[in-house]
Amino acid sequence: MNTVVLGLQWGDEGKGKAIDYLAGNFDVVVRFQGGHNAGHTVYYQGKRVVLHVLPSGIFYPDCLAVIAHGVVVQPLQLIEEIRNARSLGLSLQNLALSANAPLILPFHQQLDIVFEDSRYQRIGTTRRGIGPAYEDVIGRRALFVGDLLQESVFRKKFARLAEYYNRLFAAYGHPAVDSEPAITDYLQAGEFLRPHVCDTTALLQRACHEKKQLLFEGAQGSLLDIHLGTYPFVTSSSTTIAGVFSGTGLSHKSVDHVIGISKAYATRVGEGPFPSELQDDSGRRLRERGKEYGATTGRPRRVGWLDLVALKHAVQVNGVDALFLTKLDVLDDLDEIPVAVAYEVNGVRSEQFPCHADALDLVTPVYRVLPGWQKTLGAMERMNDLPQPLRAYLDFIEEFTGAKISHLSVGGERRQTIETGR
Ligand code: IMP
Repeated sequence: MNTVVLGLQWGDEGKGKAIDYLAGNFDVVVRFQGGHNAGHTVYYQGKRVVLHVLPSGIFYPDCLAVIAHGVVVQPLQLIEEIRNARSLGLSLQNLALSANAPLILPFHQQLDIVFEDSRYQRIGTTRRGIGPAYEDVIGRRALFVGDLLQESVFRKKFARLAEYYNRLFAAYGHPAVDSEPAITDYLQAGEFLRPHVCDTTALLQRACHEKKQLLFEGAQGSLLDIHLGTYPFVTSSSTTIAGVFSGTGLSHKSVDHVIGISKAYATRVGEGPFPSELQDDSGRRLRERGKEYGATTGRPRRVGWLDLVALKHAVQVNGVDALFLTKLDVLDDLDEIPVAVAYEVNGVRSEQFPCHADALDLVTPVYRVLPGWQKTLGAMERMNDLPQPLRAYLDFIEEFTGAKISHLSVGGERRQTIETGR
């Protein structure tokens, strides 16, 4: 069954663990959007490994790992990640990289930083150049992985873009980018990556035709989607189901099943509205228990209660078939667990999620307080082991969102995952 795994909140839902748990059942694992702003944490042979662009499929030698054209690629960073993976004993012969993936160039990262540091626009980005690289795609001036393989083409296109960006930097009083060292580094990177570069759309279409099992690995989360997230405090790609199709070249018929990942509470990094955010000691306790610090930037994450209004929005937008609920063990010691079930604006109650940040800023969440289970979940393996208040909590989430909960994660290890059979 071809399966998509998507984050349903603001990223960091524990997709790395969920995908790693599921990936062994698939022939192909595909990244289709985002870039090295993502940080998917997995444990390999007892070691904590953070993947940024490499698909989780790399850990399985028989699994083809595909970086499709929806992903923006910083080749020097990708090479570093490949080298790290090789130092773990992985060959990476099973890696395919789209020739049509847009490049993240030095200008992009520089512009990301210039904008973040100006008063004009502060999103709290990862400062990796993700937004400006996608802007170039929309602006029809992007360079692609395939360009790295033809020196004269790359040089010509790079020089044209350098002129464009250096004018912008001059306007911001920022020094121009020194092109020649960057060109040399990027061309060398192209040679390193050459054996992996191909037409991934053709590859994936063939895999579908041959009835291979595909797993699509989402990055970030639905509430960071460029169109359907809390705009403008979003990332610059389609993090929802739509990104699978535009980012791979496969049709909707190639997807059989959608798994949405959500934490049992909520977190967010960067700026932007977060109605159920906790600013008090209970928030700090959740952050410490859940080790809520960014896998990519190390930033402390903002923490809050589970927001079912937002979760239902994400379930509907993505057509989620099954929910994979993570980090339940972080709530173990609570006697009461509030969940947001509606928003109030000027005394009017609503269950609709307003995407635009200006509207979301005005809402006050309405909570339903559910009893906590006050038991340690980490060692529990079967549904029958689970305490009654936890089952009631799961029932409530299913009823509210309309999606069945298929998996529960009760700890960082692969074995600390319970299949509910629901
Ligand atoms: P950008 O993707 O670096 O442009 O950042 C835009 C917004 O998305 C910021 O709020 C980031 O903190 C957030 N973001 C990007 N990638 C991730 C991620 O993998 N996890 C959580 N938040 C992310």
